[in-house]
Amino acid sequence: MISGEDILITGGAGYIGSHLVDALVERNRVTVLDNLSTGKMSNIQHNMKREEFRFIKGDIESIETVKKAAKGCSIIIHEAAVVGVKHYVVDPLKVLLVNSRGTENILEVARKTDAKVVFASTSEVYGRSKELPLREDGERLLGSTSIDRWCYSTSKAFDEHLCFGYHKKYSLPVVILRYFNSYGPRAEGSEYGGVIPVFINRVLRNNAPQVHGDGMQTRCFTYISDTVEGTLLSLEKKNAVGEVINIGSDVETTILGLAEKIILLSGKKLKSEFIPYESFYGKSYEDIRRRVPDVSKAKRLLGWGPKVNLEDGLRMTITWYGRVVH
Ligand SMILES: NC(=O)c1ccc[n+]([C@@H]2O[C@H](COP(=O)([O-])OP(=O)(O)OC[C@H]3O[C@@H](n4cnc5c(N)ncnc54)[C@H](O)[C@@H]3O)[C@@H](O)[C@H]2O)c1
Repeated sequence: MISGEDILITGGAGYIGSHLVDALVERNRVTVLDNLSTGKMSNIQHNMKREEFRFIKGDIESIETVKKAAKGCSIIIHEAAVVGVKHYVVDPLKVLLVNSRGTENILEVARKTDAKVVFASTSEVYGRSKELPLREDGERLLGSTSIDRWCYSTSKAFDEHLCFGYHKKYSLPVVILRYFNSYGPRAEGSEYGGVIPVFINRVLRNNAPQVHGDGMQTRCFTYISDTVEGTLLSLEKKNAVGEVINIGSDVETTILGLAEKIILLSGKKLKSEFIPYESFYGKSYEDIRRRVPDVSKAKRLLGWGPKVNLEDGLRMTITWYGRVVH
């Protein structure tokens, strides 16, 4: 486990970022830079009194703010981004500009301070590629630019190119991680996405989970401790530098199957409801039927593999939500 480092975590008040803070703050000095747009103080409040912890409320779009936050840091974990299907549909311009300008600022500052960068990318980069399981060197398949849902995928792919560009031109040590649907305590759901928190929140309130389409679309869900472990290993392993690596479970679950598991594990007597995609996202939304990672590269380079199965992960998540849902 990495220790004695000064680490900047952008987006550290968010879901994944705050779990990284918890894992790193015991042995390192951690600075969080977050504008609290989706992140929450409650995710980091328990660390505020620690001497090794510093919180800066600020925006990655300001290079001066990034410079200040990164001062003295040998590692930057870049988690901040405009995330969530809501934004892809409602404000695609914000997704594109914040994600691209923010990442450029991080890389530019890292280059000048000799910091190593871990960049949080996403399985969305693959788009609707049907070359399953999805390999890091495989094709990406995206729809038309007139369809807003692809703006997030495009922004993250652009960021990945930026990372490779900085690595090539300036020998910046950078690792790109493509996370696949992470879930666990603190994960946020809204009417637009984050299927596990959305289902759990409904079920705990005795409302039926609402399954989009026929529910036969699949995802691979990764428990937060696995997401965090993959990220931490990428900091340590020298052979991960300059690489893009999938971090995700490779066990496929249908959305309908997920809804039923959550109902069962919550001990409720509910039946899933089906609703058409269009009534939700409008005509311009395209969903992806299957998305399965090839995790052999993560195994080879990081010695990483997912450890927590869906039942155990859901149980821990439901217990956590049970405490916060009133
Ligand atoms: N959760 C997942 O399953 C998943 C899957 C793939 C990729 N990712 C990536 O992982 C990263 C973390 O995602 P998350 O699920 O924790 O989301 P999150 O929304 O909880 O975290 C993002 C954080 O970034 C902050 N932020 C947003 N814009 C900012 C800005 N301009 N300046 C400073 N801070 C800003 C938010 O306030 C938030 O705290 C993101 O980059 C996301 O694209 C997540």
